[in-house]
Amino acid sequence: MKKIKFLDLKKINKKYVLKYIFYLLKYLISGGFYINGSAKTKFEKQLANYLNINHVLGTGNGLDALTIGFKSLIELGYLKENDEILVQNNTFIASYNSIKLAGLKPVLFDLNIKSVIPSVDEIKKVVSPKTKGLLLVHLYGFNSINDQLIKYLKSNKILLIEDCAQSIGSCYKGKKCGTFGVFSAFSFYPGKNLGAIGDGGAIGSNSIKIIETCRAISNYGSFKKYKHDIFGVNSRLDDIQAIFLSIKLRDLEKENSARRKQAEYYNLNIKNKKITIAEGLAESIDSYHLFVIKTNDRTKLMKFLNSNNIESLIHYPITISDQLFIKNEVDHKKLVNSETASKKLLSLPIGSHLNMKEIKLITDVINSY
Ligand SMILES: Cc1ncc(COP(=O)(O)O)c(C=O)c1O
Repeated sequence: MKKIKFLDLKKINKKYVLKYIFYLLKYLISGGFYINGSAKTKFEKQLANYLNINHVLGTGNGLDALTIGFKSLIELGYLKENDEILVQNNTFIASYNSIKLAGLKPVLFDLNIKSVIPSVDEIKKVVSPKTKGLLLVHLYGFNSINDQLIKYLKSNKILLIEDCAQSIGSCYKGKKCGTFGVFSAFSFYPGKNLGAIGDGGAIGSNSIKIIETCRAISNYGSFKKYKHDIFGVNSRLDDIQAIFLSIKLRDLEKENSARRKQAEYYNLNIKNKKITIAEGLAESIDSYHLFVIKTNDRTKLMKFLNSNNIESLIHYPITISDQLFIKNEVDHKKLVNSETASKKLLSLPIGSHLNMKEIKLITDVINSY
């Protein structure tokens, strides 16, 4: 039996190869500036339009999008160095690192035992007078916004920043994730729902002030050529990646719909008492970057899937709090739920590289476990 791959980038990109070549040739022939060129600007407008947000700025990657966004908030006086920014313990390391890189203080909060999505009750436990922001990660493609959270943040004057690296196209009450916070960050890492052929990222914001400050920071702190009013870095979405992303963005809704259909099948048909499925929030449309289940004996299940030629992966096997460089600095008693969950969560294959027959087969194998 053929192996069912967790991810197959070759297959995903194969259908675009001719278009990639055509538009790349057109770009090369037309001449251009290559950096901060027309392809980048075109993609930024296209993404802003898709998200229904005022402004988008392309960056070198998702980590930089977050870091530059935070730095812009310091530059504009919304935050100052060492302010506390809350972030969930169950996320990819980039979320945490971006806060530190910007000169702010990340404060980890735990998961509620029942869900992989941040809850207001857990957030409240770590809020202090120094708390100035929440980096909300829409992990696995699950929208993580809800009215209770918005109300709580507003009444406590806590800024909302959204990490949408895994959730492009997810919605809450019809509004896209990434349009609720002061700014949001996206990643176009190749395996993402909208993946480049290399690194790429973007910042979204309705504030022109924030976007223009981010633009300067991402371009050596320069608002005007050779004039460096603020301290900056070099992190600009590459024009060639922007060409690829513009082509793929047209198909993103199709990609996300395929994932939702597959997730719906898993949700309705996985019936095994040893397994629980991670659930989304009400009034949300999720983009299912990953399809995550929970089981007590994960190693055994992974081996069983593997023996049936099905790949599975863990997101993430080590929580932020258990990473070597930070593990001695945190109070692990306050992060028990996320640390326990990280030993039980498992991601099943999902995405347009798979057909429904394969999803049905994975479901049957899981049910026979
Ligand atoms: C939740 C989350 N945040 C941030 C990032 C950082 O994105 P990048 O790898 O493009 O720097 C990633 C991606 O890998 C991610 O999954």
